[in-house]
Amino acid sequence: MHSNIIRFIRDLYNGRGIVPLHSPVFIGNEKKYLNECIDSTFVSSVGSFVNKFEEMISQITGSTYAIATVNGTAALHMALMLADVWQDDEVITQSLTFVATTNAIKYQKAHPVFIDCSPQTLGLCPITLQAFLEKNTYQNTQNQCVNKSTNRIIKACLPMHTLGHSTDIFQIIEICKQYNILVIEDAAEALGSFLNNRHLGTIADIGILSFNGNKIATSGGGGAIITNDPVLAKKAKHLTTTAKLNHDWEYEHDAIGYNYRLPNLNAALAVAQLEQLTLFLENKRNIAYQYKNFFKNNNDVHFWEGKYFESSNHWLNAVILSNKKEKDNFLAETNRAGIITRSLWKPMHHLPIYQHCEKTDMTNTDNIYNTFVNIPSGVTLDK
Ligand SMILES: Cc1ncc(COP(=O)(O)O)c(C=O)c1O
Repeated sequence: MHSNIIRFIRDLYNGRGIVPLHSPVFIGNEKKYLNECIDSTFVSSVGSFVNKFEEMISQITGSTYAIATVNGTAALHMALMLADVWQDDEVITQSLTFVATTNAIKYQKAHPVFIDCSPQTLGLCPITLQAFLEKNTYQNTQNQCVNKSTNRIIKACLPMHTLGHSTDIFQIIEICKQYNILVIEDAAEALGSFLNNRHLGTIADIGILSFNGNKIATSGGGGAIITNDPVLAKKAKHLTTTAKLNHDWEYEHDAIGYNYRLPNLNAALAVAQLEQLTLFLENKRNIAYQYKNFFKNNNDVHFWEGKYFESSNHWLNAVILSNKKEKDNFLAETNRAGIITRSLWKPMHHLPIYQHCEKTDMTNTDNIYNTFVNIPSGVTLDK
């Protein structure tokens, strides 16, 4: 039924057997830097590639500070600590996200509050956010935002830039400012994406990136915290490196820290990947435009363009089916043909672990989940 789509995707990826959703390509200095790293014997969390990686992230994103972490989830966990989120605080987030966003909130024993998504961005909807805060919160004497129904303090808001496309981050920051809520950007998927010439993740107080194997540039596993705040940056570096005090031979730790620092071996891979980021971005933009043109002539499967298409890194492209049944049929047919397609994440409010959490009406989130499918979007460059 969708044989023309299957053929188009197979041709786009040079007729290879199985077309993955997003596999990495290693066509630069990856092996060279990994060998250099091994030869240096500095394979763990101290080494020149970690420093280089952080410098490159600062340069690419325009963030004054970048702190390398073992993965994006650890970066999120640390970002919540930096935002002073602790047990029984609340954090506003979106239900349509990868589970790591919500898990990180629970690692701090805090409570997620889910806000519906905007169909234009697939990110947290600022209109719903404003309405929720207006109706359900009050400011206490310390000017903190308190949830009327739970009496808990809403410390932070954690929107996510879905599939590499920006959310309405400026509006969200503006609203949260009125309520004294700190904003953390989950930009795990958004390396190379901008809005108004600002790299995603650098617009709010704190942002995070992921370098997992399925991302636009990978370190195998890895992440980064980005911020312009020197105090937060210093704290992040300290706490991610076991809170060890500087000394040539003594081991002294002044807080319960974390072993969250990115190993040099992973950073070596990331540095080689980041050197090719411009090439990857160009290639992925080209793929997105080819899909956009192709799906123009298709009646029952539509390409999702999104409000901020132009400045996206086009991490994962998505198509929209008319209903859940059509979506499931499309997934079954394409995967059977070796074209790896995937549903978007099951919304958090449908997961047994999070279904009891407070939430707004989820009409948009449910519609998106029921009709969206991610299609192969990896870089098409070969050695
Ligand atoms: C939106 C989002 N947040 C967080 C993460 C977690 O990053 P990591 O896999 O590097 O821990 C990911 C994906 O990997 C993600 O897509």
